[in-house]
Amino acid sequence: MIEVAATSTLPGRAETMLADRSALRVHRGPALTGEDELAAFIGSAAAAVTLLANPITARVLDLCPGLSVVGNVAVGYDNVDIAAAEARGVWVTNTPDVLTEATADLAWALVLAVTRRLAEAEAYLRSGRFSGWGLDLLLGTGIQGKRLGIVGYGRIGRAVARRALASGMEVAYADRGELADVDPPALRLELDELLASCHVVSLHAPLNPETRHLIDARRLALMPAGAVLVNTARGPLVDEAALVAALERGRLGGAGLDVFEREPEVHPGLVGRRDVVLLPHVGSATRETRAAMAELAARNVLAVLAGSEPPTPVVRGRWKLKVES
Ligand code: GLV
Repeated sequence: MIEVAATSTLPGRAETMLADRSALRVHRGPALTGEDELAAFIGSAAAAVTLLANPITARVLDLCPGLSVVGNVAVGYDNVDIAAAEARGVWVTNTPDVLTEATADLAWALVLAVTRRLAEAEAYLRSGRFSGWGLDLLLGTGIQGKRLGIVGYGRIGRAVARRALASGMEVAYADRGELADVDPPALRLELDELLASCHVVSLHAPLNPETRHLIDARRLALMPAGAVLVNTARGPLVDEAALVAALERGRLGGAGLDVFEREPEVHPGLVGRRDVVLLPHVGSATRETRAAMAELAARNVLAVLAGSEPPTPVVRGRWKLKVES
């Protein structure tokens, strides 16, 4: 039977789906973050089901020449060297769509958490200081009639836009691509213009060499005083040291971050601040969504192993082998 290596326990029906059609090996220990340990685990498998923590580099691909397909359990695939996979004819797949709403919910939760100071208010209550309703207690900032700027108007960005419009915000977006249909409709701006004119900015761009430090010191300085930055996409989109400096200068109203530049490390300048809400990369973390992601990854690798087109390919590789379907 064909060998499949899953680098983590998989939720939902994914393990059963894979085990029914392959010899499945599952790594159940701490994340395989080193190239050598990852390659040693994948070994001679024809398919790997991987997580963001697994670096699928050219070296790993060279150490695992039997690999036909990498099924990443994530919509982002910055952990995979796409050019190296293409050059070696290895299929790469991701898990779009199934996590759109959960991730947009979390981005929206961060918008509200920062503008309404929820983490700070909860800490205040838990500390025993709450002594009754106060006209000026923990006042936040209203969002109605203000502008939300979305950087990257793809599936998740648009789902956040729908939430913002339903809450009475105006929406603008910046996107490098030519967008065929813009739904919901929103004002298109250049990134610098968007940053200069929005009260809240939410990032939804993929991480690649062009978008690393997209939000740097110069761009942070364009944001109006009191503006809020939310990042549920990838940490390195933001120059974290520059963000800390901007917060320290009191330039911004706060930040909501689910991702970090050197994850799982968090910049020490963020940890003690009351005007930031920090989450451990839980954008898609609902039971339903994680099961759907793992099952989609399983369908992707099983399709490639059966010689058919996977539902959500990122790199179209070569069909090297064929299992019974
Ligand atoms: C999570 O961050 C993902 O890319 O799915």
